[in-house]
Amino acid sequence: MPDLAKIHDIVKVYEKTPTPLIYILKDVQKEFGALTEPVLSEVARITQMPLSEIYGVATFYSLFTTQPKGKHVVRCCNNAPCHVRNSKEVLQKIKEYLQLEIGGTTADGLFTLEFTSCLGLCAVAPVMMVDNEVYGNLTPEKAVAILKDYKLKGSSNA
Ligand code: FES
Repeated sequence: MPDLAKIHDIVKVYEKTPTPLIYILKDVQKEFGALTEPVLSEVARITQMPLSEIYGVATFYSLFTTQPKGKHVVRCCNNAPCHVRNSKEVLQKIKEYLQLEIGGTTADGLFTLEFTSCLGLCAVAPVMMVDNEVYGNLTPEKAVAILKDYKLKGSSNA
């Protein structure tokens, strides 16, 4: 169970900010990993804002997530330049390896798989990001090898 008391400290930081909700939700998500229902309810209680309004903001902006994500977020580019350079095959192999569909998280909580739009690196298409690292010139085999490295690192940290 997350320590919801930390939300009070975050809200206090922005008490003099004219429209603080985005800042509060950004910090709360950083602290808890996701804007889950209990977390949003606590934000509503402390800020005395309607939960429906807070939920609306949390689900409107793509930088927010209401679902907990894995330790590593894998984002596969599916825009046209990557598509014509076989991103579909790369993605298919990643899905098979992780046994996931887009939007899913592995049972061990290590990976979440998402799409991303163009990362501005079409010259090295197809491209994927893992957290903040970008990998280009992917083949299906190269993509899986990269994810295996993350898995190895993840299990050695356990
Ligand atoms: S289309 Fe994939 S990086 Fe630009």
